[in-house]
Amino acid sequence: MEKILKKAVGKLAYVRSFGCQLNMSDGEKIKSILENIGCVLTDDESRADIIILNTCAVRESAEDRVFGIIGSMKKLKEEKPSLIIGVAGCMVQQEQNVEKIKKSYPQVSFAVGTSALDSIPKLIEESLESTKFVSDTEEYSNFCMGGHQVRDSSFKASVPIMYGCNNFCTYCIVPYVRGRERSRSPEEIVSEVRELVRSGYKEIMLLGQNVNSYGNYFEEECSEKIDFPKLLHMIDSLEGEFVIRFMSSHPKDVSPELIDAIFECPKVAKHLHLPLQSGSNDVLDRMNRKYTVEKYLRIVDEIRRRSPDFSLTTDIIVGFPDETEQDFGATLDVLKRVEYDNVYSFIYSKRSGTKACDMPDGTTEQRKSERMRELLELQREISTRHYKRFIGRTMRVLVDGVSKKREGFVTGKSNEFIIVEFEGDKSLIGQFVNVKITDSMNWAVTGEMIL
Ligand code: 5AD
Ligand code: SF4
Repeated sequence: MEKILKKAVGKLAYVRSFGCQLNMSDGEKIKSILENIGCVLTDDESRADIIILNTCAVRESAEDRVFGIIGSMKKLKEEKPSLIIGVAGCMVQQEQNVEKIKKSYPQVSFAVGTSALDSIPKLIEESLESTKFVSDTEEYSNFCMGGHQVRDSSFKASVPIMYGCNNFCTYCIVPYVRGRERSRSPEEIVSEVRELVRSGYKEIMLLGQNVNSYGNYFEEECSEKIDFPKLLHMIDSLEGEFVIRFMSSHPKDVSPELIDAIFECPKVAKHLHLPLQSGSNDVLDRMNRKYTVEKYLRIVDEIRRRSPDFSLTTDIIVGFPDETEQDFGATLDVLKRVEYDNVYSFIYSKRSGTKACDMPDGTTEQRKSERMRELLELQREISTRHYKRFIGRTMRVLVDGVSKKREGFVTGKSNEFIIVEFEGDKSLIGQFVNVKITDSMNWAVTGEMIL
């Protein structure tokens, strides 16, 4: 637990996180550290005395965006020379980025790595005393966390269960910036979830780069081997009304026990995010994904055999080096065959230091963009058709906000992770309600609340 830092007491602190849910969860950790040393959190960047940008390195566009934002902060720093700007997260785990910040962005006071967040108080203290750029990107532990914890929502909570990744997919920077896989102890996770449920949280999202390898490497010796399916059972047996979600699952590690656990645990959502990345075995091999399309489809078939309506979502990379027209066509074939509820697609982005970075690539950027458009168009048709299966049914929905599109409407997520819109007011936010579905669109379904 951090000690109050006298010089930081009362200082307004603003934290902005980019990227995946694990990074959002780190953002909550940063906010907690800041509150625990005496800072006051603000949403107003222009009034802040301390700004921390918690960055993402998965794609180049995310990095460019952050460099743009840091650049634009030069003016803020000129107007308020006492302003402290810190850069945290995956981007600063790459040495060349720390060097670039140090050399070209003098408005930045410090950089702090993903496993060194506990050094933030020390870095702030040093920055308050001197204008010299300081950084700490060592790998300590992600686990030491005490004191009061800030949560971005009062009803949805993210709970990291493991950190890092050992898979080294050839396109991915994560193993280089988040280090090797390590799991939190099951006791610590269960007790955190119990506390969250006790204080009214209704959705628990278990997070890890690959939750299926949970328990392979504990930081401390554990008496009993608990793997992910067992962890799901332990959390499911806690008392209270809540839904359990998890992200992400590597298809190579989906075991029969995991599928059993999803169906046996009533609180586990009937939805699986299963990143396919490509529908071509040749591309999957070059991506080092360690599964074939056939194995992937066997998992899908087993799930759909047990529950034909089970909701599946996926990640696709379009334009991996030397992806041929046939490779791309094979990906579209899988989309048609599986009928995902949602597909998150990304154009391949070259990440220096990864294996794919040195692979030859004959496809033009223009062709990659066209493929992306084709894929989005196909998925839009599939979602529109597929969402119709919910019409006439009653879905249990956790309401999470008011609709931005329609006045007097609220929006939420069903157990299947489908967006549901219906007439209602903001007093429903954070509650489970039953909604009878009357219509569907390509991004959501709509209906009427049943009392
Ligand atoms: N380029 C494009 N997409 C990527 N992803 C990871 N690395 C890259 C990259 N270099 C995507 C993958 C992953 C998701 C979180 O981001 O699809 O599942
Ligand atoms: Fe990246 Fe692959 Fe690890 Fe996911 S499993 S974080 S895509 S290396």
